[in-house]
Amino acid sequence: MNEEKILQVNELKKYFNMGKGSVLQAVDGVSFHVNKGETFGLVGESGCGKSTIGRTIMGLYEKTDGDVLFDSKNVHELSEKERFNFYRSMQMIFQDPYASLNPRSTVREVISEPMEVHGLYKNKHEQLDRVYQLLEEVGLNRDHANRYPHEFSGGQRQRIGIARALALNPNFIIADEPISALDVSVQAQVVNLLKELQVEKGLTFLFIAHDLSMVKQISDRIGVMYLGNMVELTASEELYDNPLHPYTQALLSAIPIPDPDIEESRERIILEGELPSPINPPSGCVFRTRCPMAMEVCSMKKPVWQEIGQNHYVACHLYDETLENKKPVKQLSKV
Ligand SMILES: Nc1ncnc2c1ncn2[C@@H]1O[C@H](COP(=O)(O)OP(=O)(O)OP(=O)(O)O)[C@@H](O)[C@H]1O
Ligand SMILES: [Mg+2]
Repeated sequence: MNEEKILQVNELKKYFNMGKGSVLQAVDGVSFHVNKGETFGLVGESGCGKSTIGRTIMGLYEKTDGDVLFDSKNVHELSEKERFNFYRSMQMIFQDPYASLNPRSTVREVISEPMEVHGLYKNKHEQLDRVYQLLEEVGLNRDHANRYPHEFSGGQRQRIGIARALALNPNFIIADEPISALDVSVQAQVVNLLKELQVEKGLTFLFIAHDLSMVKQISDRIGVMYLGNMVELTASEELYDNPLHPYTQALLSAIPIPDPDIEESRERIILEGELPSPINPPSGCVFRTRCPMAMEVCSMKKPVWQEIGQNHYVACHLYDETLENKKPVKQLSKV
């Protein structure tokens, strides 16, 4: 495995100003990197900030603090021309294939639009040939080119979205929940297509999802997010075999196991309480209000992001060597 870091996200923060002095902390100091050629999975429940990270990496949102480096260049300091070129390297597949395709454009127009903006082909025939080629690469065919998005199923629409993302020959793709709006029966097909394209084209993926079971199959490494924070990050196998953070343990315990005997006997960790608001997140560790292991210190101090074992990172006071008395308390104050 090539270990060249193609993307580096350092202490990234993205806050949204909600007016009247209130601030929504969508992403609150997240660090990770993505190696060239790998698939990095980003997981966490709805609203934890996954899409916001994707959009901030793409430069669609200004950052609040921290850095994003792509190919060692700071994406928030690119000149207009550099930004234009940057989009040839990095593209995004959007969460909702129903909303992300313009209903008034034909499939051909949808896929050729980025090529036109970037002036890739002087010759219309060449451009059309490329559209046909892309349609075939994603498992559709040239007869689909003159049809409109509403004439397609969800899985087919997502294939059109993938073809459009590939139109500029990028080497990095942010796939933002590319399968969560699809029927379970077609999810695996789309995942397989992405895997095939990755091998064929040497693509690097940042794969966003809230379903840990699907992410395991596709990812080399996985980062787990909770309420704007990264809580754990390690190789996919290691995360499943040895989850350290109580939140990761709870997420994993929710995945059904196909063997009915094991499924019957195993313990499921049910998280109590509501997901807090990112406008007024809990003090200290943001997970403490729902954490079965929460200790006194968890409300007072934010846990540091540290490496426990090789390439296994976690932010949790349970692994703080300097703490002596690690006794869980039953009820922590909510704020
Ligand atoms: N443009 C925006 N303006 C204000 N708040 C926003 C904006 N975009 C996202 N948020 C808020 O930021 C938080 C994180 O949202 P985000 O869309 O990144 O979550 P997510 O992890 O992608 O969730 P999902 O799994 O539902 O897609 C949420 O509380 C959301 O309401
Ligand atoms: Mg999202």
